[in-house]
Amino acid sequence: MSDVLLARLNEIADPASGSGLSDAGRLDGAVIANGVATIVLKADASAETESLKAEIEAAALALDGVERVRIITTLQRAAGDAAKPTPRQAKPDAPKPADLVIAVAAGKGGVGKSTVAANLAAALAKSGQRVAILDADIYGPSIPRLFGLTDIKGLRKTDSGIEPAEAHGIKIVSMGFLTKPGQPVVWRGPMVQGAIQQFMNETDWDRPDVLIIDMPPGTGDAQLAIAQTVALDGAVIACTPQDLALDDARKAIAMFEKTHTPILGLIENMSVFLCPHCGEPSEIFGHGGTRAEAEAMGVPFLGEIPLTIELRERSDSGRPVAFDAGPVPDAFNRAADAMLVSAGEARKPAPGMTFSN
Ligand SMILES: Nc1ncnc2c1ncn2[C@@H]1O[C@H](COP(=O)(O)OP(=O)(O)OP(=O)(O)O)[C@@H](O)[C@H]1O
Ligand SMILES: [Mg+2]
Repeated sequence: MSDVLLARLNEIADPASGSGLSDAGRLDGAVIANGVATIVLKADASAETESLKAEIEAAALALDGVERVRIITTLQRAAGDAAKPTPRQAKPDAPKPADLVIAVAAGKGGVGKSTVAANLAAALAKSGQRVAILDADIYGPSIPRLFGLTDIKGLRKTDSGIEPAEAHGIKIVSMGFLTKPGQPVVWRGPMVQGAIQQFMNETDWDRPDVLIIDMPPGTGDAQLAIAQTVALDGAVIACTPQDLALDDARKAIAMFEKTHTPILGLIENMSVFLCPHCGEPSEIFGHGGTRAEAEAMGVPFLGEIPLTIELRERSDSGRPVAFDAGPVPDAFNRAADAMLVSAGEARKPAPGMTFSN
């Protein structure tokens, strides 16, 4: 928590009790990092909440060093309802390892799932969130390379659980730490399910704000097993503008719908090619198809990530580009913000649902 931000927000009265927002227990988090104020507000979906959010935004923007404000709303429940799961988080298996558990998936291989997962994680970490990544790609885990952890062979288990690796402040567990490079892995659904369950439940994650899961490509048994095993708050679907990739994205969406996982949004990767010499954009795979598809399906569109040589090179360097500044990191910042907003929306009860009884 940032003290200055917290103190300022506590000067705003909670409409219900009249006390300051912090004293009234309405804040789950308030942090300023890299010019972004992130505020987690317990709220319901009402006009009152909207005006409160506007007041919070104005107050935070007036503070020194704040350029952007991000307000995430989490569901505020009536007293006595705290232990009840929301209708959309129906998988009661084990305590959740993070406040938000989000899968990044695609129906197709090679569209940039891992790149998007790593950079969304980096964008969130940069804005002060505590972030972890579970690399669930048994076929070709890429998270170790993206975070410069290719030397790790095996994971230690201590009294507090499986010890995750750490890079740039992000806790990481990958199937790649357990498999030998170059060796094909033939795992069936139940085996994958067991391994992922163990990683999810037995890793000493230290309760991060967001746990991102990099999913294996495709929509077969293994993917379905993961979607069924993990209490996901939502899924982000990565695709390229090509029709083929969009067809596969539709399959991925259908798979998550089968497991009642909210779709937090579509993200168009390799949207336009930015020439490193002249900066001229070229639409190699077409452009804008994902936005149109998201609109047609009624799911949020999280933004477009350009195809750049820098992004490809940085992916091999062990430090995702979104940690830095520039147009590509900005695109990831916006997508990460939009993803958190969607996650907040998905936690609200559907119209007509109540939590009484
Ligand atoms: N926007 C981009 N600009 C440039 N290169 C990119 C971009 N997105 C991904 N790449 C590159 O494309 C390749 C595939 O990306 P990535 O490994 O993230 O895809 P994936 O969907 O996770 O693949 P898989 O299905 O194998 O898991 C990588 O070499 C990556 O660096
Ligand atoms: Mg991948």
